[in-house]
Amino acid sequence: MAGLCWKLSVCFLCSQVVSGGVEEARYVAAVYEHESILSPDPTALVDRRSALQLMGRNLDIYEQQVVAAARQGAQIIVFPEDGIHGFNFTRRSIYPYLDFVPHLHAVKWNPCREMYLFNDTEVLQRLSCMALNNKIFLVANLGTKQPCGHTDPRCPSDGKYQFNTNVAFDDAGMLVATYRKHNLYFEYAFDAPPEPDYKLFETPFAGKFGMFTCFDILFFEPAVKLIRQYNLKQVVYPTAWMNQLPLLSAVEFQQAFATAFNVNILAANIHHPTLGMTGSGIHTPAKSFIYHNMESYGGKLIVAEIPVITTDYKTKKGTEQLPPQFYAEMMYDNFTFVPVWGEKGELQVCSNTLCCYLNYRRAVLTDELYALGVFDGLHTVHGTYYVQACALVKCGGLSFSTCGQEVTDASALIDFQLWGNMSTPYIFPLLLTSGITLDFADHMGWKNHHYFMSKNRTSSGLLTAALYGRWYEKD
Ligand SMILES: *[C@@H]1O[C@H](CO)[C@@H](O)[C@H](O)[C@H]1NC(C)=O
Ligand SMILES: *[C@@H]1O[C@H](CO)[C@@H](O)[C@H](O)[C@H]1NC(C)=O
Ligand SMILES: *[C@@H]1O[C@H](CO)[C@@H](O)[C@H](O)[C@H]1NC(C)=O
Ligand SMILES: *[C@@H]1O[C@H](CO)[C@@H](O)[C@H](O)[C@H]1NC(C)=O
Ligand SMILES: *[C@@H]1O[C@H](CO)[C@@H](O)[C@H](O)[C@H]1NC(C)=O
Repeated sequence: MAGLCWKLSVCFLCSQVVSGGVEEARYVAAVYEHESILSPDPTALVDRRSALQLMGRNLDIYEQQVVAAARQGAQIIVFPEDGIHGFNFTRRSIYPYLDFVPHLHAVKWNPCREMYLFNDTEVLQRLSCMALNNKIFLVANLGTKQPCGHTDPRCPSDGKYQFNTNVAFDDAGMLVATYRKHNLYFEYAFDAPPEPDYKLFETPFAGKFGMFTCFDILFFEPAVKLIRQYNLKQVVYPTAWMNQLPLLSAVEFQQAFATAFNVNILAANIHHPTLGMTGSGIHTPAKSFIYHNMESYGGKLIVAEIPVITTDYKTKKGTEQLPPQFYAEMMYDNFTFVPVWGEKGELQVCSNTLCCYLNYRRAVLTDELYALGVFDGLHTVHGTYYVQACALVKCGGLSFSTCGQEVTDASALIDFQLWGNMSTPYIFPLLLTSGITLDFADHMGWKNHHYFMSKNRTSSGLLTAALYGRWYEKD
C-alpha cells in the first residue's frame, strides 16, 4: 500500500514533535501482519521434526522482518497470534508444535544463550536469537505445553496443559514475560490457564508493556484489570482476528480500545483474506498507523514512531471511567466494593444510607489489589449487631472474589484520606499494617457530619484502614 508507506515516511521526518512546549518521549514500534504458512492438513499427526520444519519457514520470514524493523530504528516488534504454528489443529495434532516454557518467576533464562537448559524449546531459541542479534524487544505467539500431575485437580486427563502463549524477549534475548490466553475462541487444542495471567514487562524506552491476545480484548479479565491495576500505557496485542462488520473489524476495535483506555496498542494480526483475517496497527489514542487489505497476499511490516503516553487516565477530559462495583463477603457480611487501581485517585461507594469516600496515592507501587468496601446492615453470624463500616483492605489475591479474605502481609504504602457519613457517633478507626502491627492515623474525627481518618505514611505495608461504626440502637 503506497499510501501507508508515504504516511510513515512523512511521520519520520516530523518525529521531533513538540507538544504543549514540552518535548514528549517517543519510541519506534513495529508490528508485522504475517501470512502464515499453514499446515495443509492440521488434523494430521506429524512428528516434532516436521512440525519444526513448517514453523521454521514462518520463523525465516519473522527473522527477515526483525532485521528490516531494526534497520528502521524499531525498538520493539510484535508478531501475530498463530503466526508460527497456524490453526485448526486438534488437541492431539498440535502437540508436536508445542514448545516447553518454564515458569518464569523461578527462572531467568536466555534461550539463545542457554539453549540446552530445557528440551523442546527450539521456537523460543530462534525468537530469542532474533531479539538478541538485532537488539530489539520481540513479542510473538506460540503453542506451549506444561506437564501436570494428579496433585493438580485441574490437570487435563492427558497429563499436560496446552496453552496459547505470548512470549516477550528483551533486546538481549532474555525471556521477560509469558502470557497464556484466557479467553479462548473455540480453540479446542488449548486449555485456558486456571487463573488469569496479568503479565507485563519493563522497557527502558516506554516503561511497562502489558499483553493479552485476540478475543481477550472483548473481556474484563484480564485485559481491563491488567491495564487499570498497573496504570499501563502500552499494550502489545498478537491477534488472529476474523473481521466482522459493522462493529468488529480488527483495526476498528483496536483503535477504539486505544481511545477508550488512553493507551498505545501494538496490534499484529495474521493475513488470510479468504478467511476475513487482516487488520493490524500501531494505535495511539489520537492516531493510528494501520494495514487492512482484503485484496492482496503477503505480509506487511508497519513501523511508526509514537509518543510514550504520560498523562494520567483521569486527566484526559471525558474519558474517565467509573471503576466497577462488586460484592464480596467480608466478616460474613455482603460488602459492596470498588477496586483501588492505579497510582492515585478518588473513589466513592455507597450502600443503604452510608457512603464511603477515599482519596489515595500509592507511595510504593506493588502488584497487590486493594479495595474500598462499604457495609451498612445487621451482622447476623456469631452474634447479632448492627454495623456501619467503610474499609480499605488488601485483597487475598488479584481477583475481586478475594477481597475480604484474611490477609496478614502487605507491602504497599498508601497515603489516604478515608471518610463516610455514618449515622452513629460510635466510630472505631482501625489501622492495621503488615504482620499484624499497628499504626496511628495522622488525623481523625468529625467534620460536616462525616467521620474522617487520614494517614500519609504507614510504618509498613497497609492491611486495613477502616471506620468501623457500631449503631447500638439498631441491634
Ligand atoms: C479453519 O477453520 C475455519 C473455521 O472452522 C474454516 O473456515 C477454515 O477454512 C479452516 N482453515 C484452514 C486453513 O483449514
Ligand atoms: C532432554 O531430552 C533428553 C532425551 O530425551 C534427555 O536425555 C535429557 O535429560 C533431557 N534434558 C532435560 C534438560 O530435560
Ligand atoms: C450482595 O448484595 C447484592 C445487592 O443487594 C446482591 O445483588 C447480591 O446477591 C448479594 N450477594 C450475596 C452473596 O448475598
Ligand atoms: C450519605 O450520603 C449519601 C450521598 O450523598 C446520601 O444519599 C445519604 O442519605 C447520606 N446518609 C445520611 C445518613 O445522611
Ligand atoms: C498528606 O498528603 C496529602 C497529599 O499528598 C497532602 O495534601 C497533605 O498535606 C499530607 N498530610 C500530612 C499530614 O502530611
